[in-house]
Amino acid sequence: MPATVIIGAQWGDEGKGKVVDLLADRSDVVARFQGGNNAGHTIVTGEETFKLHLIPSGILYPGTTCVIGNGTVIDPGVLHDEIDGLEARGIDMSTLRISGNAHLIMPYHVRLDGASEMRLGRFSIGTTGRGIGPCYQDKAARKGIRAQDLFDEKILTKKIEIALEMKNVLLTEVYGVEPMDSQVVAEEVLTHAERLCPFITDTSLLINDALDARKSVLLEGAQGTLLDIDHGTYPFVTSSNPTAGAACTGLGLGPTRIERVLGVTKAYTTRVGEGPFPTEANDEAGKRMTERGNEFGTTTGRQRRCGWLDLVALRYAVRISGITELALTKLDVLSGFDTLSVCVAYRTREGEVLTELPANQTVYHGCTPVYDDVPGWSEEIVGVQDIEQLPRAARDYVSMITETTAVPVALVGTGQGRREVIDLA
Ligand code: GDP
Ligand code: IMO
Ligand code: MG
Repeated sequence: MPATVIIGAQWGDEGKGKVVDLLADRSDVVARFQGGNNAGHTIVTGEETFKLHLIPSGILYPGTTCVIGNGTVIDPGVLHDEIDGLEARGIDMSTLRISGNAHLIMPYHVRLDGASEMRLGRFSIGTTGRGIGPCYQDKAARKGIRAQDLFDEKILTKKIEIALEMKNVLLTEVYGVEPMDSQVVAEEVLTHAERLCPFITDTSLLINDALDARKSVLLEGAQGTLLDIDHGTYPFVTSSNPTAGAACTGLGLGPTRIERVLGVTKAYTTRVGEGPFPTEANDEAGKRMTERGNEFGTTTGRQRRCGWLDLVALRYAVRISGITELALTKLDVLSGFDTLSVCVAYRTREGEVLTELPANQTVYHGCTPVYDDVPGWSEEIVGVQDIEQLPRAARDYVSMITETTAVPVALVGTGQGRREVIDLA
């Protein structure tokens, strides 16, 4: 059975966790392929709420193998705590597997992330401060520490020593912050080795074997398309590729293994951190979305910026990842608006109307949205499971998205809970 990729089609926090959890019920393997604990994926089972940062959103189903792939970056302390925290809540962690090739976020990456943001001042990216960027930098510079290094205390200590030689110059001379002691860092990292090492294995082999055995495999993205380091709103992006192509390199499987690409989008738009956001609504409408959608970050608790649905950006996400189906989340949040604005094009500073996302960053920064106003609905729709029970205007809103993107909407979210969803597949 071919694999299914699930990715965010906006700026993250689209509800990927909920959608992965829904599909994981019928899956044998769920694998994360990029990002780290900058992600926060919320699952509300009905009775309980789980906020996952590194562990795949399939973990709540006993027997589902959950893989943290080579393309991710792992903070060993955070993962250790997450494993213990879930286990304490009765979740079976024996099915977790970690790629030995995944890079480890070191304490100096976290310090460098903070120092760099501080130095950038008003030009800062608004990162989550979790050391994601500096860790991926070291990976590309071939100075990274990998999960497999946890098996060898001597090698790990030496690598940290070499890495810190340069980092300490950067920390003290460039950023004017405290240096770090390599021995102390190595000892701290090694306190997690005993807990994490039993999970480390060849996860590429595991996934390919599962696919050969016709098992059902879900590939879970973090962040979203517009945060992609190549295709997003650079430099206001994360340091990995949250788009579908990265599922192959981030897990060690070929593109021929993937058949379905499910893009998750909110019925409106949110963004955390800095950077362009053409449909941002700094008015009563945006405030209403923040309140009704409870738009506060899962990882940092920051208030998310809110705005109208951006169909130009959504069509772009479809193009970049070859999305074959959409999951439309949080439709329930839009109840009570007389009209809903949807962005159908951008107007540049020069007055040109664009129906595709501009390839030039400066142009994008100057774009304002061209809106169509469509009818809203007043009825609350929380928990609706049948499309026929949605008000006419809500159904038309869903159809409008399918027509504009030429991609079918397979799922519609009508609440936080697992069962608060309309299945159209
Ligand atoms: P992720 O990072 O893409 O997994 O998304 P987050 O978990 O960071 O943010 C999405 C939030 O919306 C979470 O609190 C979810 O519980 C919630 N959510 C997901 N789908 C729906 C939905 O259809 N309706 C409502 N009201 N909330 C939803
Ligand atoms: P999930 O998986 C929303 C944003 C940060 C910042 C930028 C770079 O929950 O959708 P980083 O720490 O990655 O270097 O920060 O990316 N960002 C996210 N925004 N959801 C996320 O993950 C995010 N992960 C990173 O706010 O703007
Ligand atoms: Mg999130």
